[in-house]
Amino acid sequence: MRDRIQEKEALEAAPVVEEYDLMSRSGHMRKQYKLMAGKILSLLPAGGEVLDIGTGPGCLAVEIARRHPAVRVTGLDLSENMLQAAARRAAGNGITGRTTWVQGDAANLEMFDGNSFDAVVSMGSMHHWHRPVTVFNEAYRVLKPGGFILVRDLRWGWPLKLIKTMCAFYMPPFLRGVRQEYLDSINSAYTMQEIDEFLKSSMLPEWTLSGDWLAMNIKAVAVDGGSR
Ligand SMILES: C[S@@+](CC[C@H](N)C(=O)[O-])C[C@H]1O[C@@H](n2cnc3c(N)ncnc32)[C@H](O)[C@@H]1O
Repeated sequence: MRDRIQEKEALEAAPVVEEYDLMSRSGHMRKQYKLMAGKILSLLPAGGEVLDIGTGPGCLAVEIARRHPAVRVTGLDLSENMLQAAARRAAGNGITGRTTWVQGDAANLEMFDGNSFDAVVSMGSMHHWHRPVTVFNEAYRVLKPGGFILVRDLRWGWPLKLIKTMCAFYMPPFLRGVRQEYLDSINSAYTMQEIDEFLKSSMLPEWTLSGDWLAMNIKAVAVDGGSR
């Protein structure tokens, strides 16, 4: 057993945002955004409205919008600095008209009506959420009938010693700051069992939860629309 160490929800401090934005440009991270965007777009062949929860510097949101001219993406984050970085990324990719950046809490999506989105997605954010069940319920409420939720994040499940060894191998000493942030995220990540409990406690009628090496994926479909 371990004691989960909850991270703060918002990543707001300017140096942290800058470092995260930089890290998100690495080959490894770009590959992750591309894979997730591909999965989302394969489920949205005709385009549509996507909400990206905890969008950070907007990497996933921009990757989705960039690749499909009939997709509009709203990126939501608590952090104003992250949203500014996201807006800059969208402008740099020439997709300002199809992206919207909204500051707010994923656990309270009152700024959006029910039946608003074809997909609610999130990557690398769930380990920050203090109220995951409420976030799932809100995500479900704003989905259109037939819409889907896709969430990918870290999961807890391996001995910390093994993870530290792996970090030391892959992240050279000059990336010590990033290494520590990664370990903090792992310490804040939920176990598969905890995530399963959250999903069971939520209003999602059906979902699949799968794990790979250090990550987990949730997929849920709104059979009859979220806002019943
Ligand atoms: C580790 S970053 C991931 C950013 C981005 N999704 C990515 O994959 O690059 C987590 C982001 O989630 C945001 N966040 C955490 N809790 C949130 C909440 N309850 N509502 C909205 N955003 C949240 C943080 O501010 C931060 O920008």
